Amino acid sequence: MVDTAPAPGAGTDAPLPDRSVVPAVWSRITNLVVDHGEGSWLVTPDGQRYLDYTSGIGVTNTGHAHPRVVAAIQAQAAKLLHGQQNIVYHEPGLRLYERLAHLLPGGPWSAFLSNSGAEAVEAAVKLARIATGRPAMIAFRYGFHGRTAQAMALTAAKDVYRGAFEPLPGSVYHAAYPYCYRAAGGAHDPSACTCDWEAQLDLLFHQLVYPGKVAGIIVEPVIGEGGYIVPPPGFLPRLRELTRQHGILLIADEVQTGFGRTGELFAVRHWDVEPDILVMAKGIASGLPLSGILARSDLMAKLGPGSHGGTYGGNVVACAAALATLDVIEEEGLVANARERGAQLLSGLRSIAASHRGVGDVRGLGLMVAVELVRPGEGDGRVPDPDLTRRIQQACFDRGLLVLTAGTYVNVIRIIPPLVTTPDEVDRALRILAEALNAAGA
Ligand SMILES: Cc1ncc(COP(=O)(O)O)c(C=O)c1O
Repeated sequence: MVDTAPAPGAGTDAPLPDRSVVPAVWSRITNLVVDHGEGSWLVTPDGQRYLDYTSGIGVTNTGHAHPRVVAAIQAQAAKLLHGQQNIVYHEPGLRLYERLAHLLPGGPWSAFLSNSGAEAVEAAVKLARIATGRPAMIAFRYGFHGRTAQAMALTAAKDVYRGAFEPLPGSVYHAAYPYCYRAAGGAHDPSACTCDWEAQLDLLFHQLVYPGKVAGIIVEPVIGEGGYIVPPPGFLPRLRELTRQHGILLIADEVQTGFGRTGELFAVRHWDVEPDILVMAKGIASGLPLSGILARSDLMAKLGPGSHGGTYGGNVVACAAALATLDVIEEEGLVANARERGAQLLSGLRSIAASHRGVGDVRGLGLMVAVELVRPGEGDGRVPDPDLTRRIQQACFDRGLLVLTAGTYVNVIRIIPPLVTTPDEVDRALRILAEALNAAGA
């Protein structure tokens, strides 16, 4: 019999259920219960304020609860919550499809809309395979593409994401990403890169898979989860040349780097590279679940009716939120702010780092910024220090600043402020980070 009595704790005055109702699979960095968010801040029910430099893992680019985005969501929710894409058209969807198709030069582009980053990655792989008639995929070591089966097979950021879930979908090969700080020949400046990624890719083609069998190469223009690794300037342009040479589609996974995060609307613009497919999510709708791909229209046309889709993809409220998000990004100059605040954060961190031997590297692009922590004096000086990293993260939290970690060895502090963050907030974060490095013994 179905129990129709109110569930324990269902009333608004009832005490909150114990946190153990949430399964442990959601690894977490705080035990905070938050009541609301505003701009760069999260606020607890008793009024404690935290400077949120996680942006909900790179999602709230317009800040928490931006009034224009909230108004668009409220207005749309009062009209229609679900207008399924196989059944009807709706105005926010039509407007968003058209607007997305004009966000990148080149093309012409067509968009496809889904719900999560992983789901959009799945769409990109299906499209690459159907459009080329080729089976194999290449991804990069340190890359993260999501947690569904195909996305997991592409992911090589960390063992926990895939290690317990074999067998994974096959015909996926991993190439070397140019991680200049951890290069075999020694850490070096990306502007004088000596990483042998191109030779390694050539070896892969000669040892493991014919290039003519490869449908697509998927790459994060700046590696996210795997450690916030900014590639050397020549990497993406050369990868574009090589993929064209072999008839391989270049898929830019801009789930984390997109929508202004790196100081361009999409990070590929830093290098004037035109991918064949671009994957987007996170910042697209300020927190509502929405994702998608942009693909050259001739490619998108290869996905025939019914060959891909999903019940919720392109949800009407999420589309309304995305349109408002794009308005805010454009009209409030958030891409330029990402560049300026990013430069402020990076130079501040570099000067703080100079007096801390535990800081191995400081790097970033726009408001995607990282500090890599090592054990000074051990090994070749680049031995990862995840304990120090955890202590710094905790010391930041104790002082009211939320930051994430990243990296294969979880030894990178990753800083992802909302793109609306102010110079004063960045200064405050820098003061806290300096204190945290001292407190943690870096
Ligand atoms: C580059 C990249 N691709 C894909 C994903 C997966 O997105 P989602 O968690 O929305 O499935 C992420 C998530 O962090 C990501 O950073």
